[in-house]
Amino acid sequence: MNARVIPLIDKRSLIPPSASTAQSRGPLGDTRDRRLADLRISVTDRCNFRCVYCMPKTVFGRDYPFLQHGDLLSFEEIFRIARLFVARGVTKIRLTGGEPLLRRNVERLVEMLATIPGLELTLTTNGSLLPKKAHALREAGLQRVTVSLDALDDPTFRRMNDVDFPVAQVLEGIAAAEAAGLAPIKINMVVKRGTNDHAILPMARHFRGSGHILRFIEYMDVGSHNGWKLDEVLPSADLVRLIDAQMPLEAISANYPGEVAARWRYKDGGGEIGVISSVTQAFCSSCTRARLSTEGKLYTCLFAQGGHDLRALLRTGRSDQDIAAAIGAVWEARSDRYSEIRTAETAGLRKIEMSYIGG
Ligand code: GTP
Ligand code: 5AD
Ligand code: SF4
Ligand code: SF4
Repeated sequence: MNARVIPLIDKRSLIPPSASTAQSRGPLGDTRDRRLADLRISVTDRCNFRCVYCMPKTVFGRDYPFLQHGDLLSFEEIFRIARLFVARGVTKIRLTGGEPLLRRNVERLVEMLATIPGLELTLTTNGSLLPKKAHALREAGLQRVTVSLDALDDPTFRRMNDVDFPVAQVLEGIAAAEAAGLAPIKINMVVKRGTNDHAILPMARHFRGSGHILRFIEYMDVGSHNGWKLDEVLPSADLVRLIDAQMPLEAISANYPGEVAARWRYKDGGGEIGVISSVTQAFCSSCTRARLSTEGKLYTCLFAQGGHDLRALLRTGRSDQDIAAAIGAVWEARSDRYSEIRTAETAGLRKIEMSYIGG
């Protein structure tokens, strides 16, 4: 085979050929001049929750074809790919899922990734296994965690996670993360109008002054199964007005260019909150994120319909240089801006599930 031709695995996983196959280092820009800076790695497509907006039970039931062990990238494969992404400009890696703490010995992967110099290493979790794992994760070199929590009252939270999981255990997980030093801790709350919008103020009051950063996420049309409707999205501007009326807020600037959350702080010094407004204020123009699925496909957008098979390159003995060049070629060809072009029609497209591609 001609060494410059990258094998076609399936139609959707075609790695575009590019002049950059010859050059595997240096800053990378996509077709909209966005650099590659973050890599989100999904380590499992399984989860012990069935959040209604992510893995509805009707679809993710007993018979759902989750990936089998041999399909998953091994820790060695993830580590190798991660190093190549870092060589191509990535400075931040986030482990996600599914629920990443369900992946057996995930702390060993953390330990391996933590040896890569100059890397920010974080993880997003539903918090259920943090009481058991927080300490080991910190020891392994994880820097901080983001914990999802959609309400403080049990009936609402249990309805949203749909596996009857109690709030108290997630709060215990957050406390364990704090005790282990995995801070600053961010708390993600997906807001679905009519389902948990009544939980906004109690969540804000609870986390104000805690040192944790509560972020409110607009409900998104991820995947193809969550039955998303625009009228169930509560615009962040309304949410900020609601909190501000009770606990005055002021806008503050981003921590870094391309930060997903817009930041607000309590005027009385009670800390800060964030709002993630993918639906009403798309942030595609500064999106520096790549996603690696559990089975090693590279996706350039959370709402992608197809990915690029890096596992096939790993498992057919390609060199580091070839793989780094393939990563570069995919990024340079990238033109995604889904949140800017979202409509009721695009919401119905067959998109990759968030539990598979990583949140
Ligand atoms: P830090 O600032 O390092 O904490 O990272 P982050 O803001 O990326 O936080 P996190 O990974 O927790 O992202 C928060 C949530 O924002 C995710 O769980 C998604 O719901 C959403 N999100 C993150 N990245 C994207 C993106 O590229 N596009 C869209 N539409 N939503 C995103
Ligand atoms: N809309 C917005 N956020 C979502 N998440 C999962 N599904 C959705 C959705 N449909 C969030 C989770 C978690 C992160 C991984 O992504 O709540 O915080
Ligand atoms: Fe699991 Fe997170 Fe999806 Fe909920 S949002 S089902 S916790 S992966
Ligand atoms: Fe990035 Fe796609 Fe999200 Fe836009 S919709 S911010 S391009 S991941």
